[in-house]
Parts: sequence; C-alpha cells; structure tokens
Amino acid sequence: MAYDFNKIATSYDRLNHIMTAGMDRLWRRRAAKEALKTARRKTASATNALTHSRTNAFALDVACGTGDMAIELLKRGCAVTGVDLSEEMLAIARRKTASAGFQLSTFNFQLANAEALPFDDASFDAVTSAFGIRNFVHLDKGLAEMARVLKSGGRMVILEMSTPDSALVRPFYNLYTRRIIPWLGSRIAGNREAYTYLPNSIERFPKGEAMLQKLEAVGLRAEQHKFFFGVCRMYVCEKNELMC
Ligand SMILES: C[S@@+](CC[C@H](N)C(=O)[O-])C[C@H]1O[C@@H](n2cnc3c(N)ncnc32)[C@H](O)[C@@H]1O
Repeated sequence: MAYDFNKIATSYDRLNHIMTAGMDRLWRRRAAKEALKTARRKTASATNALTHSRTNAFALDVACGTGDMAIELLKRGCAVTGVDLSEEMLAIARRKTASAGFQLSTFNFQLANAEALPFDDASFDAVTSAFGIRNFVHLDKGLAEMARVLKSGGRMVILEMSTPDSALVRPFYNLYTRRIIPWLGSRIAGNREAYTYLPNSIERFPKGEAMLQKLEAVGLRAEQHKFFFGVCRMYVCEKNELMC
C-alpha cells in the first residue's frame, strides 16, 4: 500500500527544505529546465519564436505533492497538470500556485494514480516527477504510464533520492538518514515513523544502472546525473521520435 502523505502534508515543505539544506529547490529547477529542452526546440521551430517567447508546451508533473515542481515548470512558461494521490498535498499545491500569481488557466492539480493516468497516449510535451516514484506500489506500471502519456520526441525527467556510491561518504549518509532525519521528523512533523520510512525506502529503491534499465524497458532513452555524491539522482529520458 502507498504511504499516506496526507499525514505529513502541512509540514512537508518545511522539513524537505531543512533536510536537504535547500538543495531540493536547485534540483527541481535543474529538472524543470531539462524537461522543457525539447519542448522549447519544437515550439521554436513550429511557431514564430519572436511572437511566442513562452514555450506553449503542456507538462505533466506526476506525484506533484505540494506543487514545487509544477511551479518551476510554470515559471518556464508552460501549462502544467499535476497529479497526486493525496488530497491534502494537492490542496496546498493549488493554494501555493495561485498565490505565486500564475494564471488559473495555466495549471490544474487533480487526484489521480500514477499507475493508471487518466490521460490519452501522447498528451504531454514533458513529464516530470520529483521524489515521487519511490512511493509507487508498482514502479514499472507507473513508469510505463508516464512514458505512455509523453509525446514522441518529448522528455521525461525524474528526480529521486538514492544512496551514495562512495564508501567514504556512506557512514555520514547513514548517520544522517538513520539518526538525524527521524529526529527532525519527530520534532518538526511530529511523525518519526514517516521519516524512518524515508531512509528504508531509499535503501530498497533501484538506482543508477538498474533504474536506467527500467526506463529503457518502457521505451525511453535515459541517462543519469548525480547530485551531492549521488544522494539525489536525476534521470533525463527521451521518447524516440516516430519514424515515418
Ligand atoms: C515525497 S512526495 C514528493 C512531492 C513533490 N513531487 C516534491 O517535489 O516534493 C511523494 C508524493 O507522491 C505521491 N504519490 C505516491 N504514490 C503515488 C501514486 N501512485 N500516484 C500519484 N501520486 C503518488 C504522494 O501522495 C506524495 O505527495
């Protein structure tokens, strides 16, 4: 069963920024930029780039949570749909995005399961997910759905936490994730259990080559970028253009 994020929705953002010392913001910014690269190229050639300074692209953010990735995509001028399983997280996403001043017609947050996305094939120019896929019950199903709704030639970008590769960094990582994060979770979110689940789920989750193989299995070309000793990984994927 998926972890219920309704329980930690109100403290989620604060704890996230504290735990990563604010780096999560930089990682999302980088992911949004990567996700829209091909969308930008395509709209520039398909339309008059002088009259369309914005991308005119449609992006989907899966497991959008409180909307931080959607906001990064909106800042870059595309329209965004965010989906999540938690109504509490979605409510915060709607409030935050509206108060950041984005036009209501450019974003939409809706309750939906990543493993059965309610969209037609090839509906989106870009698909993103930040720190969401680790929580899917059936990872392969979720990845296949994300790839299905992506247009050919579009990009899918995934951010996910992972364990560092270096044996030198590992003891510090273990101390931080096994002692400090659960303590922060109990102090700030009043929920030690959720933040004990976090390092355990990271430990069990496929990373690097194993993840690249999963992405290739759903028809994407994928590469990974490591941030902060590999504690966070970004998978940048492209769906091949259909040959006519
Ligand atoms: C760690 S939060 C990440 C939130 C946000 N993307 C961010 O950048 O902070 C994980 C989110 O995944 C959502 N989630 C988990 N399983 C899901 C699924 N199968 N479909 C949609 N959302 C899911 C949870 O409800 C939660 O909001």
